[in-house]
Amino acid sequence: MEERGQRSNRRLVLVPCPPQGHITPMLNLGSLLHSKGFSIVIAHTHFSHPHPSGFPNFTFASIPDFLPKDVLSSGDAAAITANLNTNCEGPLRQVLSDMMAQDGATESKISCVIYDSLMYCAEAAAYYVKLPSMALRTSSIGTQLIFSELPRLQKEGYFPPKGMFNPHIVTDNKLSDIIPGAYPLRCKDLPLFTSDPEPMVQVIATALDIKTSSAILWNTVDCLEEQLSDQVQKQYHVPFFSLGPLHKVAPSLPTSILEEETDCLLWLDKQANDSVIYVSLGSLASMDEREFAETAWGLANSGQPFLWVVRPGSVRGSEWIELSPEGFEEAIQETGCVIRWAPQKDVLAHRAVGGFWTHCGWNSTLESISEGVPMICQPCLFDQNVNARYLCHVWRVGLELEGDLDQKEIEQAVRRLMVGEEGKEMRLRAAALKDQIKLSIRKGGSSHTAIEELVNLIISL
Ligand code: UDX
Repeated sequence: MEERGQRSNRRLVLVPCPPQGHITPMLNLGSLLHSKGFSIVIAHTHFSHPHPSGFPNFTFASIPDFLPKDVLSSGDAAAITANLNTNCEGPLRQVLSDMMAQDGATESKISCVIYDSLMYCAEAAAYYVKLPSMALRTSSIGTQLIFSELPRLQKEGYFPPKGMFNPHIVTDNKLSDIIPGAYPLRCKDLPLFTSDPEPMVQVIATALDIKTSSAILWNTVDCLEEQLSDQVQKQYHVPFFSLGPLHKVAPSLPTSILEEETDCLLWLDKQANDSVIYVSLGSLASMDEREFAETAWGLANSGQPFLWVVRPGSVRGSEWIELSPEGFEEAIQETGCVIRWAPQKDVLAHRAVGGFWTHCGWNSTLESISEGVPMICQPCLFDQNVNARYLCHVWRVGLELEGDLDQKEIEQAVRRLMVGEEGKEMRLRAAALKDQIKLSIRKGGSSHTAIEELVNLIISL
């Protein structure tokens, strides 16, 4: 067996997908594998990348992405992903070939390329230069399961063909029905992204296909998704490793692209245990002025202390909180703290935080469950509806906030979660899941074992 100290000659090239929710788990995986003795290279696109100075243990290689400005500003996830993959394959091959040429003169070698599934061009680039590869899935297995069902569901009429998709005109019955064989998901939870689902269905099909990779790595944990993992594994001929939650198993890193306002932790120090509702809709979701005002008054009138992240630019038509409704700032002086970006993991771990109003991005979901914090679920896009359904109906640690945002409903939801009987029960279930996760990452636990097996597989490549 190879000694840990000998592994620094083995380099792993990690290829993240640019958005924050994807970069974070890849950097955490890098931190985990570095702690196991491997050298880590982050091969990132020009568009949105971590600042190398925060990661002295990694080296960085830049891949030109030639992303046209109009594609980038369109916000069209399918077009951006397709463009990135088309444009990056050649440059990535070049980066890998150059590294291999340098290795010729030294003892080191690239053992494997590990890529975010949405950067599927890396699988082809690695194969071209004769390197092994592995895919990292940064969303839940539940999401993958429904993604892989999309072609069947399309055939069965769960969403209509090109140009016809409009969630408001698909018959209500079908929209709200549980899809046979896909509990707890309804047609309206399908991650279809745009009015024309076709391009995204194509991108997803390509991302899920494994041609030459040796394994699929998941940022998930068996105590949440073991059964689903068994189901999905049947679709593949390569091993699966549920390694997560990656932020818990890896030595901590400054993964945030935006600057964190750590002063909010001092504000939390002054609040009572489990009294604060933390509100954040992640790095992509946005709201209009009406939704912003409803949220503001719903929080203010709930009477509960709150810590609210309003990401700059996330209120459409404004830089930050200039569109605050009149009287709001005065009304919340005693109870509220509004910031631009939080040290989210520290906030969720703080004793004062008793609830999380979240958009249910997969990282936020795992971070909240890992700290035993129950949630108000307000999914906005992508896989978030799927996560919200599992949170509310399978793990039962969240309550759903559906339909148009309304201050009265928000007020009630906050009270139900923070001081209601229902909230108490959810908090107990969340605490039990937190304990199970702790066990999973200890020696003998499922994630701990999966990590050991992965390390052995990499060494054997
Ligand atoms: C995107 C998709 O929206 C999500 O559905 C998918 O699962 C991953 O990619 P994002 O919207 O950013 O992600 O949500 P999420 O996955 O929750 O990731 C957000 C990350 O930003 C988390 O790690 C969170 O800790 C961090 N964050 C968020 C902060 O550090 N500070 C904040 O104020 C808010």
